[in-house]
Amino acid sequence: MSKKLAITGGSRGIGRGIVRRMAKEGYDIAFTYSSERGKAQAEALVEEVTEKYAVKCYMHQFALNEKGTAEEFVRTAYDELGGLDLLICNAGQSLVNSIYEMDEKTIDFLINLDFRSYLMAAREAGRIMGENNIKGNIIFISSCRGIRAFPYDELYGGLKAGLIRAIQTFALDLAPYGIRANCVSPGPIRVRTSEEMREEGVCEQEIEDLDNLWKQLPLERMGTPEDIANAVAFLASDQASYITGANLVVDGAASLPGIPENRPKEDEEFKTWCNFKRRWRV
Ligand SMILES: NC(=O)c1ccc[n+]([C@@H]2O[C@H](COP(=O)([O-])OP(=O)(O)OC[C@H]3O[C@@H](n4cnc5c(N)ncnc54)[C@H](OP(=O)(O)O)[C@@H]3O)[C@@H](O)[C@H]2O)c1
Repeated sequence: MSKKLAITGGSRGIGRGIVRRMAKEGYDIAFTYSSERGKAQAEALVEEVTEKYAVKCYMHQFALNEKGTAEEFVRTAYDELGGLDLLICNAGQSLVNSIYEMDEKTIDFLINLDFRSYLMAAREAGRIMGENNIKGNIIFISSCRGIRAFPYDELYGGLKAGLIRAIQTFALDLAPYGIRANCVSPGPIRVRTSEEMREEGVCEQEIEDLDNLWKQLPLERMGTPEDIANAVAFLASDQASYITGANLVVDGAASLPGIPENRPKEDEEFKTWCNFKRRWRV
C-alpha cells in the first residue's frame, strides 16, 4: 500500500518541489494552500502529479495563521488518505525585518504561522501515529537563519531557531513510538523567477539583489526546491532510520562565513552573505 503524506504549503515554492518529489516516490498526498493565487497553482499541481505518477493528491485551503487550522488539516488528511506516514510542516512566510519596525499584528501573524501551526500539526500527527501504531516521520522546514544570527531578524530567525529546538523534544517524546522527527534548514532557495516576482509586485531593487545573490554564496549558486526535496526524501526514507532530532542544513554553506574580518568590497574577492553587505553599507 502506498505511503501517505500531509504537507502544509504544498502549492508552490519549496513545498511544491517536495510534493513533486514525494509523488515520484509513490506517496499519496494531501497539501494546503492559502490564497486565491495559490489555488490555481494548487489545482495545476494536483493535475500534474496525479497524471504523471498515478498517486492520489488532495488540496485544501487553510489560513494556518488561524488557531485550530493546522490540527484540522492533519485530521482531514489522515481521514481522506486513510493513513499518515509523513507530516511535513513547510507553510510559512519569510518576513525578515527589524522587530523595531514591526507592528504587533504582524508579529502575532508570524508567530502563529511560522511556529504555532508547526507545533499544533506535529502534536496532532504524533497523536494519530502513536494511537494507530504508525512508525511515521515528522519534518519541519526551518531555515539556516535559525542557526545563525543576522541583523534585522529577531522574529523570523528566532522562530526558525525555535523550530529546531522544538523538533528535538518531539524526537524524544515520540521515540518510544518509533516515530522520528527532524528539521531541514534551507539556505537561499530560488522559488520564483524574476518575471514571477515582478508579477507579484516585488520592487526592482529586490529582484536585482536576488538575481545577484548567488555571487556571494560559497557554492556560487542559489538552492532549488529540488535540493530541499532531496533532503526531505532522504530523512523520510529507511536510509535515515537512525536519524531523529536532527537538523539537516541545506544551504550551500551560506551560513558558515561568520563575521567578516574586513569590510566587504564590491569586487570578487570578498564573498559574504547579503546581510553582512547590507550592514556594512549603511
Ligand atoms: N525560499 C527560501 O529561500 C527559504 C529559505 C529558508 C527557509 N524557507 C522556508 O521554507 C518554507 C517555504 O518557503 P517558500 O520560499 O517555498 O515560500 P513560498 O514559495 O512563498 O510558499 C509558501 C507556501 O506557504 C503557504 N502560505 C503562506 N502563507 C500562508 C498562510 N497564512 N496560511 C497557510 N499557508 C500559507 C503558501 O500558500 P499560498 O501560495 O496559497 O499563499 C505556499 O504554499 C517556509 O517555511 C520558509 O520560511 C525558505
